[in-house]
Amino acid sequence: MVKDNEKNKITSNGMEKIVSLCKRRGFVFQGSEIYGGFAGTYDWGHLGVALKRNVTDAWNKAMQNHHNMTFLDSSIFTSGKVWEASGHVSGFSDPLVICNKCKEKFRADHLLESIGVKADEKLSELEINKIFDENRTKIKCPKCDNKDFGKVRATSLLATSNLGMLEETDGQVYLRGETAQGIYINYKNVLDTGFVSIPFGIAQIGKAFRNEISPRQFLFRKREFEQMEMQYFCHPNNAMDIYESWKSERMEYYKKMGINPKKLRFKPHENLVFYAKAACDIEYEFPFGWSELEGIHYRGDYDLTQHQKFSGRDMRFYDEETKEKYIPHIVETSVGVDRTILMILCDAYREDKLGEAERVVLKLPQKLAPVICAVSPLLKNKPELVEYANTKVYAPLKAEFGRVAWDDNGNIGKRYRRQDEIGTPFCIVVDFDTLTDNSVTVRDRDTGEQTRIKIEELKNYIKERIS
Ligand code: GAP
Repeated sequence: MVKDNEKNKITSNGMEKIVSLCKRRGFVFQGSEIYGGFAGTYDWGHLGVALKRNVTDAWNKAMQNHHNMTFLDSSIFTSGKVWEASGHVSGFSDPLVICNKCKEKFRADHLLESIGVKADEKLSELEINKIFDENRTKIKCPKCDNKDFGKVRATSLLATSNLGMLEETDGQVYLRGETAQGIYINYKNVLDTGFVSIPFGIAQIGKAFRNEISPRQFLFRKREFEQMEMQYFCHPNNAMDIYESWKSERMEYYKKMGINPKKLRFKPHENLVFYAKAACDIEYEFPFGWSELEGIHYRGDYDLTQHQKFSGRDMRFYDEETKEKYIPHIVETSVGVDRTILMILCDAYREDKLGEAERVVLKLPQKLAPVICAVSPLLKNKPELVEYANTKVYAPLKAEFGRVAWDDNGNIGKRYRRQDEIGTPFCIVVDFDTLTDNSVTVRDRDTGEQTRIKIEELKNYIKERIS
């Protein structure tokens, strides 16, 4: 019997336990840890890689369900003109403010937030300076308690590079700040392949880089992260309906994934950027509060118009049937892989009591669990058990599911605790009875219940439960 206990919450700012579990069990490590860490970067360990693959597979599969969806893998490095055209060079910034005493840098909107003043991150430099000035006397430096700050300066989020600067271009080179631009600049290439026509989508997963002033909340705000973005090209007449249908589809996607629906909500954007027709976020209630998980934006024809202007290429679509020529409108869905994983971990983390034993368990949706089942011989010094477990249980399950672990370290109780912590839905134990009845014990992660299953039924038993 599982009893929830009151410690079932992740506590305070809430991330410590998740961060510690991720390191202890090999999901995520601090980037450049042996050199004291490199802020805003994290490295994925063995289980993190597996979880990440399951998350990106799920997203790809959801996108693939659209018959008119195409996929792209565009370069991280692009011509600097891409970012001038997109508006990132002039307008993609965070409001930076420096403490005059300890010289620490902060985001002005975060400092304002800490005294309960809302300041949208999309405000202009002038607007945020005004709000900051009105509240200056109330704001304390989180590091040294000083109240003396400099002026708020808009600081570019684009990460720069010197790659190829001398040979190919005399302009600035950037690491991409979002994957979306790679899609816009390839839209005509995709259309010209002749496989799709308006309306159609281009989906892409890839790395993005941002010079975040204060990367924070673990995987939530990183300097190097991965995005899953989809741009849907459509006629302006039905773009709003398409926007609404992507909104519901994306929300349903998270619910079907097994995320607690009470922790998901839509948040419409209060201040739309000038070109946007409509925009909202899907928010999740993280331990540090409701925050953006995914953005869904109806961007009008802004992006393609800008690239037409800067590149001189005709971005219009010619409709053979209606003889109409127009720049398609775009509906975008955009979510971070890292942020999705943080949500999944927060949603799955529990501390409960199983019988008399307290445990930490990740109740991960079975499809996402890095390991589907762990196979154990009851005793690792009994060759007959090890041989049976290896050849008759582990090898066939591994061939079928791939995500199967061999675990013979420590006693059975310890193995269960370890597998619970990484969210393995099933632990399979080969004991002395197995040698005569060809059955194994399958222990369920969530309930702790143990069931005897014939080995010939094992594959189907697991398949049914993860389907
Ligand atoms: N193309 C639109 C775009 O990039 P965004 O709101 O800046 O919009 C989209 O980013 C999504 O990418 C966010 O909802 C979030 O999931 C993820 N994301 C953005 N910045 C991030 C960061 N610094 N670290 C991790 N994920 C981030």
